[in-house]
Amino acid sequence: MGRIVILVGSMRKGGNTDLLAQAFAEGAGKNNTVETVSVADYKVNPCVGCNSCFTREGNCCFQKDDMAEIYKKLEIADMVVIASPVYFYGISAELKAIIDRLHTPMRNKFRVKKLALLLVGAATLPELFDAIKLQYQLVLNFFHLEDAGMVLVRGVKGMGDIKGRKELEEAYNLGTSINDKRPRITRQVKETGSELELLKHLDRLHTTELGVVRIKRNLSLDTEDVLGWCKEKIALDYAIITRSGKNWYVNVDNFVITVNVHSYTIITAHKEKRRGKD
Ligand SMILES: Cc1cc2nc3c(=O)[nH]c(=O)nc-3n(C[C@H](O)[C@H](O)[C@H](O)COP(=O)(O)O)c2cc1C
Repeated sequence: MGRIVILVGSMRKGGNTDLLAQAFAEGAGKNNTVETVSVADYKVNPCVGCNSCFTREGNCCFQKDDMAEIYKKLEIADMVVIASPVYFYGISAELKAIIDRLHTPMRNKFRVKKLALLLVGAATLPELFDAIKLQYQLVLNFFHLEDAGMVLVRGVKGMGDIKGRKELEEAYNLGTSINDKRPRITRQVKETGSELELLKHLDRLHTTELGVVRIKRNLSLDTEDVLGWCKEKIALDYAIITRSGKNWYVNVDNFVITVNVHSYTIITAHKEKRRGKD
């Protein structure tokens, strides 16, 4: 569980940036506390470059405006998401004002470890996001931050043009990936999507009395909680899930667990047969 602050840089409430940020927030909210800060709700003056924050107590800016509230949220954030419309190949001025005001506290005070980037723009040019991406990379390098990922959406201009675009799902998925302890999606999972269903619905797994007896015998298990044991194994991030016919097969720790695709019944489990002579 981490704390994520999404900085939304469009004054247009319910616009494309907002909707992209919402999709991310929905996904990230599963494993994190997410707070959205929209420039439309705060009045933040630009940095005046006085450098008094270098020496002021708590590295606070002398300006008395809504930034005080945003500082409080960022002070306890583990991750920050920059969400912006492209304005003249850069981020919006309102969002840049907030970021500039982080000059000293970002270095001395905050505990932020990760950044992510969500961008929307009207053009479909391949180079549309290049300037922002470069700036983002330089910031990551300078502050030694981890890049959690980015979703970039071209060709959205009018209010809500982004609706129905696949990038909303990408943003949601990026959100769910933050602090997700479930197994990573294997190449095969990504291609077929079916194995992902098993990971999404671990709570639907069950087994039968006969299944318990069979699994305990085949694996020489000592536990009474065979279902819990199987769930834990399936959720391990190195478990490999494949589908063949009506079953999923989960290869993990030299065991193979068989799950019925339709009923989510754990049918059996056995030790993996070793290849070769030994
Ligand atoms: C001042 C301004 C500058 C813009 N500059 C660009 C630009 O350089 N490239 C581009 O593709 N779109 C540009 N746009 C279009 C916006 O990026 C696009 O409409 C975006 O979807 C707006 O997001 P929103 O709905 O969240 O406000 C600009 C829009 C405005 C208002």
